[in-house]
Amino acid sequence: MQAAKHEHWSSGFTFLLAAVGSAVGLGNIWRFPYVVAENGGGAFVLIYLAIVFVFGVPLLMSELMIGRTAQKPPVSALKSFGESKAQKLWNILGWSYVLVPLGILTFYSVVAGWTLDYAIGMMIGSFNDLQDGESAKIFQDLQDSPATQIFWMTLAVGITVGIVARGLKSGLEKTVEILMPALFVILIVLVLYASITGEFLKSVAFLFEPDFSKITPELVLMAAGQAFFSLSLGSGAIMVYGSYLTKDISIPKMAVGVACADTFVALLAGFAIFPIVFAFGVDHAGGPGLVFVTLPIVFNDMGGIGQVFGVLFFLLLAFAAVTSTISLLEPMVAQLSEQGSFKRARAAIYTGAGFWFVGIFVALSSNILKDVHPLGFLPLFAGMNIEAVINFLAANVFMLLNGLLVAIFVGWSIRRSVTLEEMGLGDSMIFKTWFLLVRFIVPLGVGFIFYDVVF
Ligand code: PHE
Repeated sequence: MQAAKHEHWSSGFTFLLAAVGSAVGLGNIWRFPYVVAENGGGAFVLIYLAIVFVFGVPLLMSELMIGRTAQKPPVSALKSFGESKAQKLWNILGWSYVLVPLGILTFYSVVAGWTLDYAIGMMIGSFNDLQDGESAKIFQDLQDSPATQIFWMTLAVGITVGIVARGLKSGLEKTVEILMPALFVILIVLVLYASITGEFLKSVAFLFEPDFSKITPELVLMAAGQAFFSLSLGSGAIMVYGSYLTKDISIPKMAVGVACADTFVALLAGFAIFPIVFAFGVDHAGGPGLVFVTLPIVFNDMGGIGQVFGVLFFLLLAFAAVTSTISLLEPMVAQLSEQGSFKRARAAIYTGAGFWFVGIFVALSSNILKDVHPLGFLPLFAGMNIEAVINFLAANVFMLLNGLLVAIFVGWSIRRSVTLEEMGLGDSMIFKTWFLLVRFIVPLGVGFIFYDVVF
């Protein structure tokens, strides 16, 4: 059978919508605010910003460049540069770039499922007239119920597979063209409401006044992990989206655009959440429950309008999640359908079924498999359940490792003349700075962080 043709984005703007859609996700709206709160605010934000621009942007440029130069999905892309002696290693790296996103999908689709559950729950009024402690109980009941967890996770997987099966133009592009503008409008409405009625200045101080005494090695690690995850680095999404770029688009501009938009949305999410959280005097350091436990209480206290904002907020989360899950499934599906003998729809269904199956174990790790610690015999993994192990390996180990290796690949293995041409910056200061960062600073910096996480 003939392999599928390699398609291209309709325009640079569509690419930007899709890449920002991949980057903006649960990482920005669910995770960023609570990780900032847990790590004491401004100091974390400052380190985060530094990592986004010193490591993040050069790596975004590198991954986009590999995809765009090769015009192939990740495994074949890394193979196509094939001159170096280390080619075997680069082949493995290619596989890692399509497998890591599937690992991420196993837990990401469980949380995406929660957002669907909450969006619908808000619409039908399940969160009206909450009594004391009821919000925490609703969230706990969801965690405790295998059937509910699996149901919503399956729905999230189904939506993702359905979109990716339709292909680049009628699947991915159509989705981001509708969901991304909707996402921005909802976010702006929420931020305006929160900053007019809530504690805006207190939130500014909380997010931007750094307390330098809070900076520790652990905080730097958390910030780096958050930055990689938020920018979709080390996970195939950016690389495969880059492969659909035509040669007339400027990679550096796109990379800066994605990094700025992603960071902007993370900060906006903070300004949608903290002003009302501070105004209602609820605990702002609520961990993962900040969005799922604390916010429903706040929406409930707002009275009638609260339900409207509740629906909007969880729709926002669900939209952000879906535009990310499609980018996590796409690398493997593109690989199988363009280079293997699978039709795209089949490739999407098979791959979807594969990570859905593993996802079941993740969905069960908060209930019947709660006490199963698969790698518990290793000290590093002691006490981690299935979800925690997959999450840790995918997001903290392999994303960083992939990023590190890709920097070495681009900085040391690909010919400089190729990178010079692809970047379109001439042999300028900007190009030289990027090259320096990719050759030395990123590998050393990420290597150090990686070492610290694992050892
Ligand atoms: N960047 C997404 C988020 O912030 C998650 C993601 C990671 C998406 C890796 C694609 C690849 O939620």
